Amino acid sequence: MEKEISIGLLGLGVVGSGVIQIINDHQKELQHQLGHSIKVAKVLVRDIEKSREIEIAEDALTTNPDDVINNDNIDVIVEVMGGIDEAREHMLKAFAAKKHIVTANKDLIALHGPELEQAAQENGCDLFYEASVGGGIPLLRSLSDGLVSDRIEQVMGIVNGTTNYILTKMDEDGQSYEDALADAQKLGFAEANPTADVEGLDAARKMVILARLSFLTNVELDDVDVKGISDLSIIDLDYGKKLDLTMKLIGFANRHDNQVEVSVQPTFLPTTHPLSSVKNEYNAVYVNAEAVGETMFYGAGAGGLPTATAIMSDVVEVIKNKLLGVNGKQLIKPSFKKELTPPENKISQFYLRLHVKDEIGAFASISELFNQRGISFERILQTPKDNSDLAEVVVVTHQTSLQNFTDALKLLDELNVVKAVKSYFRVEGGA
Ligand code: NAP
Ligand code: HSE
Repeated sequence: MEKEISIGLLGLGVVGSGVIQIINDHQKELQHQLGHSIKVAKVLVRDIEKSREIEIAEDALTTNPDDVINNDNIDVIVEVMGGIDEAREHMLKAFAAKKHIVTANKDLIALHGPELEQAAQENGCDLFYEASVGGGIPLLRSLSDGLVSDRIEQVMGIVNGTTNYILTKMDEDGQSYEDALADAQKLGFAEANPTADVEGLDAARKMVILARLSFLTNVELDDVDVKGISDLSIIDLDYGKKLDLTMKLIGFANRHDNQVEVSVQPTFLPTTHPLSSVKNEYNAVYVNAEAVGETMFYGAGAGGLPTATAIMSDVVEVIKNKLLGVNGKQLIKPSFKKELTPPENKISQFYLRLHVKDEIGAFASISELFNQRGISFERILQTPKDNSDLAEVVVVTHQTSLQNFTDALKLLDELNVVKAVKSYFRVEGGA
């Protein structure tokens, strides 16, 4: 094997620039580990004329994908251009040309992971995507290798840096949603179209990848219940403070008796819960497995250098496989048939905010309705609303099923004293 290994990049934005910076800054360490230096031979971009913060030889840039994909000097391609259809086409062509691929593209892996893994395997190529979930946190390899002998039961965490940044700034600095989002975009955490971040889609795609690796079954995006943070009200964040609860966008994946539940939704956690202290763009993921118990993975969930660190760990893995002659092993081995958890088996506490008539017996009738569904209250707050005959009522229920809770919500609609159901959220972590 040659002493210099050439790699190609598809994309030179936030993450691609981070990859080049790491290769430049840590070349000695890489060479020491591998006995080979790494050189970036060719980089696909959209616009060659664009001014770039990273230094790169002008003749290394190209707008022709073939200069990377069908380049005889390149064995390993790093896909950091993002998007779905074009990136998928490039990858399939690259496998056909016997190139190994490392990607940070969770959108593509969540939607087309199994197809791409098959194409990689058929061509004797590696496909790695450590950077696709949790930015710089070494997470996927920990799940698929570190916990390989265990049975993972639950994965719960903060897997989107942008929304965690926004929630932190709204909650702690009183910043508006719009200003916090604009800052996250400037800092390079947000996706090109930040709708995917704030509507929970980015986190849902990551949870698909985590659930597949954890439960060894082919979870798909349609299996995930998704709700984002774009219509969160500061009123609920303030009630959360009064109740010692912190709002986080939580990805949740659970397997029980072969039933799988995956969701992404704004969720209240006790302020003492370790995930509550995960701030700004940081991510953290709790993994609960039968033998090992709880483990937690924490670190920078987005940003150029952290994400590039995960990419380079995959690049090194590909090169090591090449040195050992074992490229092309399959990462996912679906081993059981997927069965989705029905609502009667989805158990949690709930936070509920209502506007009710401020009159004698109003709360008693609400309480009676919940009792009928077997739901009891753990916390209750009632505040008269200024200049009106309404009161704002906030309750936190004890544990119940999603089925019971949604049935109770339907019945509330018919209750004369209830003027509006303003919001409700899952509460996890034992309020
Ligand atoms: P970005 O800053 O928008 O960079 C995208 C790069 O790809 C740019 O260099 C762009 O070229 C190039 N590109 C895009 N479409 C292209 C096309 N059709 N043809 C040729 N070149 C094209 O994106 P990023 O933040 O680096 O993210 C890249 C990937 O990493 C995405 O899949 C993202 O989801 C994932 N990711 C990002 C982060 C993060 O913190 N940013 C973390 C984890 C994973 P020009 O420079 O010429 O415009
Ligand atoms: N937009 C993503 C986030 C980038 O904010 O988490 C990292 O995947």
